[in-house]
Amino acid sequence: MHSSSQLRILFVCLGNICRSPAAEIVCRTALKRAELAGRVLVDSCGTASYHVGSKPDSRMLAALNRAGFGYDGHRARQLKQSDGMHFDLVIPQDAENLRDVQRVLHGSTAKVLPMSRWFPTGCTLQEVPDPYYGEEADFDAVVRLLADSMPQLVEELRAGISV
Ligand code: 4NP
Repeated sequence: MHSSSQLRILFVCLGNICRSPAAEIVCRTALKRAELAGRVLVDSCGTASYHVGSKPDSRMLAALNRAGFGYDGHRARQLKQSDGMHFDLVIPQDAENLRDVQRVLHGSTAKVLPMSRWFPTGCTLQEVPDPYYGEEADFDAVVRLLADSMPQLVEELRAGISV
C-alpha cells in the first residue's frame, strides 16, 4: 500500500481509449457504491502512444452509456516507467499488455496482476478482448465483463488490499 492511506491502481490496455478507460470508470463507480472512493485513486493508460491526448473511443463511450456509466473527462496517456513508483497495483487488460507492462515497469515496486484474476466464476476468457476492430456487441461485452469483474476486485481492496 502507498505511504498515504490511499491505494493507487492503474488499468492498462494498448491504446487507452477502449478497455482501460472503461475499467477505470467501472471501477470508480464500484468503489463509490462500496463507499471506498476516497480510499482508492484510479487511473488508466496505454502501452502505445497512438492515441495520446484522445478522448475514449466514441463506440466505448456509447457502450458505457448504454450500461449506465458516465464519461468523466479522461484523455489517453502512455504508460511510463515512473508509473511503477506511483502506483501500488497495475492491472493489464490482456496478455500483450501484461508483457509490455512487465518490460516498462521492470524492477518497480508496483504489483502487476492481470484483469482476468477478477473475472467472474465460470468465465472462460483469459483476457479482456480487444474490441477496437469489433462491433457494437464487442464493446458491450467488454463493459459487461468489466462490470461483472469489478465487485470481486473491490472486495479484495476492501479486505485489506491483500493483492
Ligand atoms: P484499447 O483498444 O487498447 O482497449 O484502447 C485499442 C485502441 C486502439 C488500437 C487498438 C486497440 N489501435 O490499433 O489503434
